[in-house]
Amino acid sequence: MNIVNVDYDGLIPNNVGLNSDARVKRALEKWHPGYINWWNDMGPDGFQEALVYLRTAVSVDPKGWAKFDYVRMPEYRWGILLAPQVEDRTIPFGAHKGEKAWQEVPGEYRALLRRLIVIQGDTEPASVEQQRHLGKTAPSLYDLRNLFQVNVEEGRHLWAMVYLLHKYFGSEGRDEADALLERRSGDADTPRMLGAFNEKTPDWLSFFMFTYFTDRDGKMQLEAQAQSGFDPLSRTCRFMLTEEAHHMFVGETGVTRVIERTCEAMKNAGIDDPNDIAAVRKLGVIDLPTIQKKLNLHCSLSLDLFGNEISTNAANAFHSGIKGRFREERLTGDDHKLESDTYPVLRLKSGILVNEDAPALSALNMRLRDDYLKDCELGVSRWNKVIEQYGINYQMKLPHQAFHRQIGEFSKIKADPEGNIVDETTWARTRDNYLPNDNDRVYIEGLMQPVLEVGKFASWIAPPKVGIDNKGGDFEYVKLA
Ligand SMILES: [Fe+2]
Ligand SMILES: [Fe+2]
Repeated sequence: MNIVNVDYDGLIPNNVGLNSDARVKRALEKWHPGYINWWNDMGPDGFQEALVYLRTAVSVDPKGWAKFDYVRMPEYRWGILLAPQVEDRTIPFGAHKGEKAWQEVPGEYRALLRRLIVIQGDTEPASVEQQRHLGKTAPSLYDLRNLFQVNVEEGRHLWAMVYLLHKYFGSEGRDEADALLERRSGDADTPRMLGAFNEKTPDWLSFFMFTYFTDRDGKMQLEAQAQSGFDPLSRTCRFMLTEEAHHMFVGETGVTRVIERTCEAMKNAGIDDPNDIAAVRKLGVIDLPTIQKKLNLHCSLSLDLFGNEISTNAANAFHSGIKGRFREERLTGDDHKLESDTYPVLRLKSGILVNEDAPALSALNMRLRDDYLKDCELGVSRWNKVIEQYGINYQMKLPHQAFHRQIGEFSKIKADPEGNIVDETTWARTRDNYLPNDNDRVYIEGLMQPVLEVGKFASWIAPPKVGIDNKGGDFEYVKLA
């Protein structure tokens, strides 16, 4: 079996030697039609016949893993790709640190592992469902193509998790794999498992914020699982991270281009005051305070994905060697077991926010969230550089962790984006200043008119600096049917 190149001969492209694994091959072939039905029902609405210039993974060699070509999305070759096995890999953390990494599921951690894989798997189709209507209002063919690239890769990520379920979890795994095709984002009876994946992605600014903030939660979770002592999970996640980077690129550059266009239009019109929303909106661009509100919304929804600040599940997953910390292998200064360490956790104590040392094992969700926020800051500061270049006096900011939370320590209170705790009446009166309100939604919705001519871009977004696969902004990224 060639581990680097992918076998494309069968129904399911793979580098896991499916041809010599009849049981799993049969199970996946049985699952395949249900997946295609799901894609046709819940994938991009109205574009299934279009030819999209997509990248497909043809190898797991980091130096040249993808090829680009026109593809009809239902014919995309969704495959199972694992990063190459690292020889003599050992478990990098937890009670089993230093032992040989597991190639099979350890019996005592079976339930824990399965749950982790199912939750990760559930997010992948969920975002495709959330984004299925966006094609109709795409600001350009370039953006349309990027949306579809993200969508087909989230589909592939579902395959990645389903492979693990079929291969390692027997009949329970099969049932879980089926259930992943049955839940639906936002459905009242059978919703997706996590809150942020049941929210709407109503417009393209939301899409960019989603790929910036929510796909970045995905990155953090994948990084933590890439450390796993269960080697097949580690290898799966390592390859998924290669694809995930593009999703966050779409998010970061998308927001950058919106900001850039707004600043440029303001400058051309001689508007200095970013808070003169009426004047800015007359220019057909999205005012900076509204962009900030979208940022507040998507950042706070994504923070909820990290779960409770203090968590026994997180402690168990680490202790048992199933889920590590962000880039565990590069961390120095502790023994990677954390049995006697502490970690500062922001908590609510008698109505005020205080940092309190907690056992490091129980505080692992908090730690991953802190790492996440640091990662989020980087793009925000790049957005601010753009605003600064135009000489506009405005700064984007991440909201405080206590702002607009549904999960964990701060779900019991209301706080403003600065982290000041406010009473319910104040919150009700001011929330429209912090989160998109009906007016904002109506305004943005009005801007969302499709621009599908080659090389053209909607009024509210700047063209990209560079295109995809060394093509220009005027390349025909999607040939509409
Ligand atoms: Fe994904
Ligand atoms: Fe993603």
